Order: sequence, then C-alpha cells, then structure tokens
Amino acid sequence: MKLAVIGTGYVGLVSGVCFSELGNEVVCVDNVQAKVDMLNNGEVPIHEPGLKELISSNMVAGRLSFTTDLASAVGSSEIIIIAVGTPSLPDGRANLTYIEQAAKEIGQAIDTYKVIVVKSTVPVGTNEKVADIIREYATVSFDFASVPEFLREGSAVKDTMNPDRIIIGTASERAAEKLTALHSPLTNQITITDVRSSEMIKYASNAFLATKISFINEIANICEKVGANVEEVANGMGMDRRIGSSFLKAGIGYGGSCFPKDTQALIQIAGQMDYDFKLLKSVVEVNSDQRFNVIRKLEELLGDVAGCTIGIWGLAFKPETDDVRDAPALDIIETLLARGAQVKAYDPIASSNFERNFNRSEVKYCQSAQEAATEADALCILTEWKEFSNIPLSSIQQWLKSPNLIDGRNIYREEDLKDTPFAYYSIGRPRMNNGVRESNPVLSF
Ligand code: UDX
Repeated sequence: MKLAVIGTGYVGLVSGVCFSELGNEVVCVDNVQAKVDMLNNGEVPIHEPGLKELISSNMVAGRLSFTTDLASAVGSSEIIIIAVGTPSLPDGRANLTYIEQAAKEIGQAIDTYKVIVVKSTVPVGTNEKVADIIREYATVSFDFASVPEFLREGSAVKDTMNPDRIIIGTASERAAEKLTALHSPLTNQITITDVRSSEMIKYASNAFLATKISFINEIANICEKVGANVEEVANGMGMDRRIGSSFLKAGIGYGGSCFPKDTQALIQIAGQMDYDFKLLKSVVEVNSDQRFNVIRKLEELLGDVAGCTIGIWGLAFKPETDDVRDAPALDIIETLLARGAQVKAYDPIASSNFERNFNRSEVKYCQSAQEAATEADALCILTEWKEFSNIPLSSIQQWLKSPNLIDGRNIYREEDLKDTPFAYYSIGRPRMNNGVRESNPVLSF
C-alpha cells in the first residue's frame, strides 16, 4: 500500500519506518527542512534501538522517503497517517494547533478518495473535528479513523512490530477493511470500535499504567515504614493474573513524553464535562511527590545538602532513550541546587539533551560514571541503565568521598551490599548500613 505519514516524531517516524519494513511504500513528511535533510542522509534524530538500520535498509529498497512536501506525499497515497505532536498547554489541555494545521493542508491537497488516520494522542472528539476541517477544504470523499499508538520509547521498533493489539476506531467499513489489511501482518488482535471509544482507549490505557506505578510507589513508601520489601510485595501481587506483574516496579515515579501529558489531558477532558477525576489527580500528585523521596533520603543521610557534592547517575526518564522530557532528574537536580548542593551528572546518552534543557553552572556534566561519582558526598541513581548495574560496588566505594548511595531504581540487591561500608537507601526496601540490614521499625499498633 502507499502511505503518507505526517510528522516524524517518535510515533510518526517509527510507524512509517515499520510500515515500510512490512513492504509498504511510505513517504514521511515533516515541515522542518533540517530534520528531513538529516533523515535523507541516513541520520536519525532520536535514539531508538534498531531504527537507524531499518531506515537505511528501507531507503535503499526504495520503500521509504522523507520530504517537506505534504501535498505531493498526500496526493500519491491511499492512507494518510497524522502523527504530529500534541504537547501540553500550560493548563494541561492538549495543544491541537499542529493537528489542525495538518488537517487543513491535507484537505487542500487530496484529489482522490483517501483513508485518513489520526495516530496522535488527542482528546475525545478531536478526530471528528479533524474530519470537519478536512471536509471544509476537500473536494473529494474520504474516511477517517483513530488508530492510537501504544509504543514505548526505547523499545519503539519492537513494540510497533509486535503490538499487543491494534485499535481501529472508525464508522467506515471501507476504512476498517483497509486498515485491517495494513495492520494484519503485525497481529491478529485487531479491534474495530467507534471513534470516541478509540480515542478514550489510549488515554485510559496510559492513565491506568500511570495509576499502577503511583500505586506501587505508595505501597513502597508504606513498606519502608513497616519494614516490608516492595519487590517481594509486587512479585506476590503480580502472580495474580487479574493484577499482572508489569508496571509494578517501584522507583522515583514516571516521566517521559506520554504519561505526564496524557494524565493531565484526561483530567482536563473529564473536567470540561464537569467530572472530577479524583483518582487520576491523586496519581499525578503521588508521582510528583515520589521524585522528592530522593531528596528526603539524601537529607536523612547527610543532614543538610548545602555545600555537598552529589553525584547523579541517569538523566533520561528511562533507560535506552536520550529523551529527558519530564525526567525525574530535572526536578531532583533543580531542588538540589536550590538547597545549595553542587551536582556532577552522568548519563550514557542523554547528557547533551539534558544540558540543553538545564544549563546551570552548578552542574558539571561528566563523561563517565566514574567521573560523576568521584569525590561526591553521595551518589544517586535516577535511571536504571545496564551500565550502572554492571559497575561493582567496590569501585563506587573507591570513587566516592563517603559511601552514601541512594538507589532510586532499586538496581542493587541486598546480597550485593553485604561486606560493604555503604549507607544504602533504595525505594520500598529495608535500608542497609555497613552491610547490615537496618532492624525492622517498631510498629506502633
Ligand atoms: C508509555 C506507554 O507505556 C506507551 O504505551 C505509550 O504509547 C507512551 O507512554 P513510555 O513513556 O515510552 O511509554 O515508557 P514506559 O516504559 O511506559 O515508562 C514510562 C515511565 O514509567 C518511565 O519513567 C518509567 O521509569 C516508569 N515506570 C514504568 C516505572 O516507574 N515503573 C514501572 O513499573 C514501569
């Protein structure tokens, strides 16, 4: 099939590339000339395992190209996929400017029947609005569908090629048939539903996953108080198939481009219809607070952090990505600086993105994990990169000024700490001091 994909962000680029890998002829459109030039030269603007290789092989095979010329890309395609960004406005609502602009340009450009798909995450009702805009400008018939994207950063290619399900929200049988044919090489779990339910499925899924994370983080906080271990608890809970074991990893909260934005947007969507989504508001509040656990733990260890040097390992919001959007490290480092600490930070690939967003003289961006830890009063692990868990604690001990370790992602196990002098605070697990687990707190009931 011939496809045009509008927008070469995470969703658009990965979807376009994967559809070309399936044998379709795909033109990806972006209005930023520099980005299109970069892609045409085989350079990839995002770090995503496997993506670069797929781009070059499909470009060589003549199935994948990049352009700024929306009209010609759209004109020669049977299916048009809109995957432009919907960033948050200051009040949490989704900014629909880019999608409305794309709809107008598509409407002006089409001259034969098309199936138009919205993949961007958009509030309920937006697809209908997009269709109205296209209708205003188009002189030919078209059908539209909402096909939300569930890929995760860091495993975007894998997730797109092996989805758990494909949701197609459309009122048109013709569009449903065409889109089923497009997606059937990926999975046989394809569900056709109405447009508004499809839009809601995306928000509800992300809100539910965010809820699982905030839930387990609160359980972790209670585990610390009662002397239980959140990993044992999550393991025991996850064996119940009704609960499931994924997204029960306690830590310093979720970040990234989706959960923070989509939870806020769903709260706004509900609020606009006079519904107070209390549960989701709490999920967001718990998540913001969870980041500060790192600061609280540091202050318990060091007293005041003013004048201290704190080593930070991990700036990306999760491993295998250089994305720092809404990364917990942003709030944590900001707070450390506000309290008078100096910071030495290292991330395997996200440092330059982070520095672009956070350029402060009190932060030294280091070239290695060792450099960030050297002579620091304490080390905080904020992203669970494999590189970090491969570093022996004996090396960290040699590098640090004092053996203080806050493990915000629970990458070390209790056995690793035996025979070490560390004061080791993790999330929802017993503290360790000098290789010994702290005695259980006295329960006051
Ligand atoms: C998420 C959704 O998973 C995906 O379906 C959607 O399309 C986009 O949003 P992504 O943000 O790329 O994907 O990453 P994900 O792996 O879901 O992690 C999100 C955040 O949650 C990260 O900050 C991660 O550290 C945190 N997380 C995840 C936890 O703290 N605990 C967990 O158990 C899982």
